[in-house]
Amino acid sequence: MSEKECQAAENGRPVDESAESAPITQTGFVRIRRTPLINTLLQPTFGIQADLQTEIHPSDEMLRYMTGVYRGDRERGLAAYFDSGRRAFEMTEQIVDWRFGGFESIKILDFASGYGRVTRHVLGRMDRAGLTVSDLMEPAVRFQRDVFGVNAVSSTVEPERLRIAGEFDVVQAISLFSHLPEGLFRRWLAALWALIAPGGVLIFSVHDSSLLAGKRASDRFTFVPSSENDDLDPEAYGSTWVSSAFVREVVADEIGTASLHRLPRGLCGYQDVYLVVRADDVDFSSFEYNPGVEGYIDVAECDSRSRLSCCGWAASVSRHRSVDRIDLLVNGDVVGSTSEFQPRPDVADHFGDERLKMTGWSLDVALGDAISYSHDAVMLVARMGRVSTILFMGSIYSLLADTAKANLEFLAARG
Ligand SMILES: C[S@@+](CC[C@H](N)C(=O)[O-])C[C@H]1O[C@@H](n2cnc3c(N)ncnc32)[C@H](O)[C@@H]1O
Repeated sequence: MSEKECQAAENGRPVDESAESAPITQTGFVRIRRTPLINTLLQPTFGIQADLQTEIHPSDEMLRYMTGVYRGDRERGLAAYFDSGRRAFEMTEQIVDWRFGGFESIKILDFASGYGRVTRHVLGRMDRAGLTVSDLMEPAVRFQRDVFGVNAVSSTVEPERLRIAGEFDVVQAISLFSHLPEGLFRRWLAALWALIAPGGVLIFSVHDSSLLAGKRASDRFTFVPSSENDDLDPEAYGSTWVSSAFVREVVADEIGTASLHRLPRGLCGYQDVYLVVRADDVDFSSFEYNPGVEGYIDVAECDSRSRLSCCGWAASVSRHRSVDRIDLLVNGDVVGSTSEFQPRPDVADHFGDERLKMTGWSLDVALGDAISYSHDAVMLVARMGRVSTILFMGSIYSLLADTAKANLEFLAARG
């Protein structure tokens, strides 16, 4: 990174494009190449707003993390960054629509917002004046204030020192409590609850203890002082797993009587989400949450005529059902589709839920002579109600390579 880009990263401000020796990221942000994959993803089809702000701060550790997941493939990392932000926002949107009938005239605090992976999706739905963000990382706060034009407040390690004026209808803390040691977990819960207006809702996500499967030190609470973020003190920000009994216990201790609701695997099919509403006897049965789909591609193969055959499973694990349809898209066009599902007793066994038996799918599609294995964008999308979950996005080569690698790893693990 050039000195100028470093400075831009620190200030969260665009680099002067007219300057001599313009840096690679000419605006001072991460360079977004409009490849077929990124273009397809940013279509409104997937619920991403047409005017989404795509500036990304070069120090955004969520992008760094996503890119790492794809072994340094920046294009797929970027796509995952936008898509995971969209999915997290869909959760907020469903909660806000249920509780307040929409975003008009409510006030939201996106706490521990980072550099705005999720916040950017909220912007198109509400007046910026109603949106406040807060994070511990100063450059992240400045970036969102300068680029998104939202109220942005610097946070503190000690919850009792946080200074945010006013009350909020929604305070969301996505992937914060999944990193806190027990003392800070309790104290941040109390501090954020103090910012909730009457009738308002606190939304926070955690790693459930079950995700530790077999490796868990404790069912109740496990903290490991290590995380994806090298900039923060690992003793104050590590990795945390909790049981639902623990969450109920700390809510009772720190908040007292409140209406509490759990959405198992509610955040991108992985973290559990808890809603705590500042009102008595809230009827959560009227909230029909659609968390999207979990799934896997077991096999993907192409023959000499570019015919793609692939199969896998897809299900909403928390809603105990298979999905409506699996679509195969090339550059945004649906080229194959199935709504027939076959038995997958291994999936039912894995989740200990017989209702997940009919979750297997397969597709066999001629991709045509003009297909480019390296350039064209392929997506496998599971549709369930109004929610679309992308099971795979990338090139055909990466689809073939990913599945082959996963199968080799599986065989190696079996010995
Ligand atoms: C995993 S990131 C999630 C960021 C964002 N919510 C998202 O989902 O993309 C966790 C964030 O928590 C922030 N954080 C950690 N401790 C904090 C504190 N005491 N106050 C505010 N933010 C904090 C980190 O700086 C980081 O941005």
